[in-house]
Amino acid sequence: MKLAVAGKGGVGKTTVCAGLTLLLAEAGKVMAVDADPNNCLGFALGIPPDRLVDIKPVSEMKELLAARAGSSGGGMFDLAPEVADLIEEFKISDGNIDLLVMGTIDRGGAGCACSLNSTLKQLLRELVALPGSLLVDMEAGLEHLGRGTAAAVNAFLVVVDPTPPALRAALRIVKLAGELGITNVFAVGNRASTEGEKTLIREALGDMPVIGFVGDHRGLAQEGVFAGDAGQALRADLAAVLENLRTRA
Ligand SMILES: Nc1ncnc2c1ncn2[C@@H]1O[C@H](COP(=O)(O)OP(=O)(O)O)[C@@H](O)[C@H]1O
Ligand SMILES: [Mg+2]
Repeated sequence: MKLAVAGKGGVGKTTVCAGLTLLLAEAGKVMAVDADPNNCLGFALGIPPDRLVDIKPVSEMKELLAARAGSSGGGMFDLAPEVADLIEEFKISDGNIDLLVMGTIDRGGAGCACSLNSTLKQLLRELVALPGSLLVDMEAGLEHLGRGTAAAVNAFLVVVDPTPPALRAALRIVKLAGELGITNVFAVGNRASTEGEKTLIREALGDMPVIGFVGDHRGLAQEGVFAGDAGQALRADLAAVLENLRTRA
């Protein structure tokens, strides 16, 4: 299962991504990539904070990649240097889960997100080739992705909640995905407990298939999303989502 999770900020991408990662990790190796500059996937996975402080963000990898490419600027990222061994160096492992953190992007001044996106693209090309599952917790946009990587991911999950901004963002993501040639795009309706909320989501998304719903489970823990009663309810909902994905993706 190779999945990328997208959606508007605050809709529950990290929660869904962490939950699916934990479920998949019960059966085998999972590579989780935190590509959101807010970097909280590690916490959501329940990895102890003292381990997370040690993690080296992949944004530091770009200097290494540049050095390996033997170039100091310009089109250095087109040279596609080996990144497989860098992945080993940058990831942290917790049981069956390997975590890579992209790091923050300096969007000010001359620092532009393109070089980091370029690093992520290269990285994803390597990661999709690894055995085991892959989950990417993305920023709202799909600018991280090129056609090659997009084709290698089984499915894009777009998390929505029953609010107009989240639903509008989902439609925009589907359009972008279409432009990248990605057809396997599924919505996960989050914080949708009532039939009314589920219907609202289905109707707003039109042709986009809704792969499942997660209820509004107040009191989810920020560290370890399956903790407590709310976490167990989340787990049950996401297990159903995963089951649906297995048959459709
Ligand atoms: N189904 C849910 N029920 C209750 N709270 C949720 C649910 N999904 C997410 N949350 C909470 O909403 C907040 C934002 O979720 P998060 O997964 O970080 O969103 P995103 O990654 O899209 O920004 C977090 O505090 C999270 O615990
Ligand atoms: Mg997030």
